[in-house]
Amino acid sequence: MANFTYTGLPARVIFGKGSLQQLEAEIDRLGSRRALILSTPEQRSQAERIADILGSRAAGIFDKAVMHVPIETAREARAVAEKLGADCAIAIGGGSTTGLGKAIALDSGLPILAIPTTYAGSEMTPVYGLTENGIKKTGRDIRVLPKTVIYDPELSATLPIDMSVTSGMNAIAHAAEGLYAQDGNPVMSLVAEEGIRAMSEGLGRIIQTPEDLDARADCLYGAWLCSTVLGNVGMALHHKLCHTLGGSFNLPHAATHTIVLPHAIAYNAEAAPDAAKRIIRALGGKSESAGGALYDLAKSLGAPMTLKSLGLTEADLDRATDIALANPYWNPRPIERDAIRHLLQNAYEGNRPA
Ligand SMILES: NC(=O)c1ccc[n+]([C@@H]2O[C@H](COP(=O)([O-])OP(=O)(O)OC[C@H]3O[C@@H](n4cnc5c(N)ncnc54)[C@H](O)[C@@H]3O)[C@@H](O)[C@H]2O)c1
Repeated sequence: MANFTYTGLPARVIFGKGSLQQLEAEIDRLGSRRALILSTPEQRSQAERIADILGSRAAGIFDKAVMHVPIETAREARAVAEKLGADCAIAIGGGSTTGLGKAIALDSGLPILAIPTTYAGSEMTPVYGLTENGIKKTGRDIRVLPKTVIYDPELSATLPIDMSVTSGMNAIAHAAEGLYAQDGNPVMSLVAEEGIRAMSEGLGRIIQTPEDLDARADCLYGAWLCSTVLGNVGMALHHKLCHTLGGSFNLPHAATHTIVLPHAIAYNAEAAPDAAKRIIRALGGKSESAGGALYDLAKSLGAPMTLKSLGLTEADLDRATDIALANPYWNPRPIERDAIRHLLQNAYEGNRPA
C-alpha cells in the first residue's frame, strides 16, 4: 500500500426520510436564534416551508440564489443577513444556494446549515466560488463548510428526472476522480466506490419511479459520499475540463460533467488501474473498461451524451483544448495536447470511449 496522509473534515449529518423534523433541534444545537433562509426563486416555496417550521426564529427569506454566485448577489445577501440580525443561514437547494451560504460565511463567519435538494455536493466541501466581472474564482476556507447538513430525500423528490440524472452523474464524477487523486487515501477510496455504487443504483430506480423515496434516499446517500470525497481530496483532468467548458463556453454544469466523465476517465484509466477497477466494480463489474461502464450508465439513464447537444460548436474544440492546457495541473496521465483534443472530439460527438 502507498503511503498517505489523512485529515478528516468535521461534519454533522442528519440523514433520512423525515429528518427535516429535526431542523429546530439542530438550530438550537448551533446556538442560533435568528436564521436567514436562502433559496433560488424557483425554490421559494420550500424556503417558506422552512420559515413555517421555525416560526419566530426565521429572520427572513433571501430567494435570489443563482448559478455561480455573482459577487453582487453575495453582497446583497450579506447586507440582508446583517440588517435582519441573522445569527445563522439555512441554505435549502442545490450547489447554487449552498454556494451563496458559503459566500456569506466567508465574510461574516455565520454558521451555515445546508439542506441539499440536488446531488451536486457543495455541502461537504470547504470550497467556495464567487463570480466577479464574468470570472469565477474559487478558494478553500474551512469557515464556509456547513456546520450541519440535513439530507431528507423527500425534498429531492421534486427534482425532475433529467436534472436528477445529470446531478447524480456530477456526483459520480467527484468520486471517480477522487479514486486517483494525488492526495488520495484508502478511506476516501472506500467512500468513493460505495458512493458510485449507491448513486448509480439509485438513479436506475429513480428513472422508473421518480417519487420512489427509497431510491431518492440511496441517491442522497451516494451524493453525501461522493461530495465527502470532493471535500477531502483533489480533483484532476475531468474537473479541469468541465470548469473550462462551463466557464468559457457557458455550458450547463451538471450536463457537462455527465458528458465528459466517461472520456476523462478513459483518458486516465491506464495510468490509474486501481481506480478503473473500482469504478467497474461499483457499476456492476461487467464492463471491460471504466470509461465504457460510465458511458453505458449515462446512456441507460437517458442522459445527454454529446457536447454538441449543449450548443458547443466543433470550432470551439481547439480553443477549449488551449484553455484546458494553459495552466498546468496534476493528473495521473500527463496532459497531451492531441489526446485531449481527441477526447473533446469524442465528447462532442458522443462516441463510446474505446
Ligand atoms: N463548492 C463546491 O464544492 C461545489 C460542489 C458542487 C457544485 N458546486 C456548484 O454548484 C452549482 C451547481 O449546483 P446544482 O447542480 O445543484 O444546481 P443549482 O443549485 O443551480 O440548481 C439548479 C436548479 O434546480 C432547482 N432545484 C434544486 N433542487 C430542486 C428540487 N428538489 N426540486 C426542484 N427544483 C430543484 C434550483 O432551484 C435551480 O433552479 C455550480 O455553480 C457548481 O459550481 C460547487
